[in-house]
Amino acid sequence: MSGMSNFIHYNPTKIIFGKETIQKNLKDEVPKGSKVMMIYGGGSIKKNGTYDKVMTALDGYEVTEFGGVKPNPSYELAMKAVKVIKDKGIDFLLAVGGGSVLDSTKFIALAAVYEAGDPWNMTKMNKSEEEEPTKVVPFGAILTLPATGSEANMWTVVNKNETNEKRFVGSPLLFPKFSILDPETTYSLPWRQTRNGIVDTFIHIIEYYVNDDDNTSVPDRFAESLITILMESAVALKKNPNDYVARANFFWASTQGNNGSLGYGIKRQDWGLHWIAHEITAISNADHALTLACVVKGYWTHQKERKASKLKMMAEKVYGVTEGTDEEKVQACIDKTVEWLHSVDMPTNMSECNITKEDYIKIGKKIDDFYIKECGMKGIGSYGDITGKETIEILNLCD
Ligand code: NZQ
Ligand code: ZN
Repeated sequence: MSGMSNFIHYNPTKIIFGKETIQKNLKDEVPKGSKVMMIYGGGSIKKNGTYDKVMTALDGYEVTEFGGVKPNPSYELAMKAVKVIKDKGIDFLLAVGGGSVLDSTKFIALAAVYEAGDPWNMTKMNKSEEEEPTKVVPFGAILTLPATGSEANMWTVVNKNETNEKRFVGSPLLFPKFSILDPETTYSLPWRQTRNGIVDTFIHIIEYYVNDDDNTSVPDRFAESLITILMESAVALKKNPNDYVARANFFWASTQGNNGSLGYGIKRQDWGLHWIAHEITAISNADHALTLACVVKGYWTHQKERKASKLKMMAEKVYGVTEGTDEEKVQACIDKTVEWLHSVDMPTNMSECNITKEDYIKIGKKIDDFYIKECGMKGIGSYGDITGKETIEILNLCD
């Protein structure tokens, strides 16, 4: 196999990590005299004290609050924030909350200064040069839920509720100027959200790691270590949500899981699993991590011959499987992953996502309509060849 491919490592986000970093660092990061929009979700930041810390740190700034961002954040709400930004001349955005709040902020930051028509155009994968975003309102983040890696990556995922579409935008403009990660803000996460974050991170790691190349040692050993850390953190946090050591380890593992590092040098990253899972959320609004957990078994079962060497490697290095043929090790990796998901109370049965077998056909059609017809791709996944037909086969292998 070919080994490390060429890459450029670029990640300009300043990470400020640790206890009391909102109180100590926030005001030095927001440019003096800025008109700030503080964007948040349904109120968790008010209950856990983060809101008060932020408002105290922003004393002296003109702050406009924009709350109410929901999980799987909507384009429609984002466009309301854009209007306020234009009306008030706001020039700095601060996301305070989980990945949905941050992704919403990212979309708003581009949309507020977008000049090529409807900002939804940015979600097209075959944008014309004129449709590419070229400007951004500067923004920073205080992340309270480790999961997406959005705090240090160039992606945002947004939903258009009117048409049930869940799409992403990628742009170097979307790296936050800074991200403050205080593990103590995550003590208040209910187990369901902690578990979701652990599982989302796990799947990000395997989207990079489970390819067909055995000779990419740096990202591979890094991925295996991060998975082990996640597994250890899950055991600790299920017992004690206020375990600082586990909260901090999980937080940093989650950022590393999707800040791009694991993809440097990897020729065949996958992301097909995510793109199928996004289509499930688009029609059911199911939690992102739940949809991933429900698809992984079917996805790997369908793709296992092409990914055999990496699934075998994962069985050996992560799950400690030493016995059996190569084929048995591949199967052991799939089985042990499902077992682990159950051990963190994550269901893997598609009915938990509130979708039926008839929906599988709709999901297959959506993959064909968007990625193939609209974006002109041959298909999705590591080899870019999973179409609607294979998507339906994958979904049928999930239960
Ligand atoms: O809305 P509030 O009241 O803040 O409550 C939230 C929300 O109900 C709550 N929460 C957040 N921090 C908390 C807390 N509750 C108690 N204590 C805290 N410290 O948790 C709930 C879920 O929040 P959400 O932000 O939706 O979760 P997550 O961070 O998992 O984000 C999921 C979104 O990110 C997208 C997903 O598709 C989904 O839309 N993703 C973004 C990616 C990216 N930008 O790179 C990649 C991912 O693969 C993913 O697709
Ligand atoms: Zn994800």
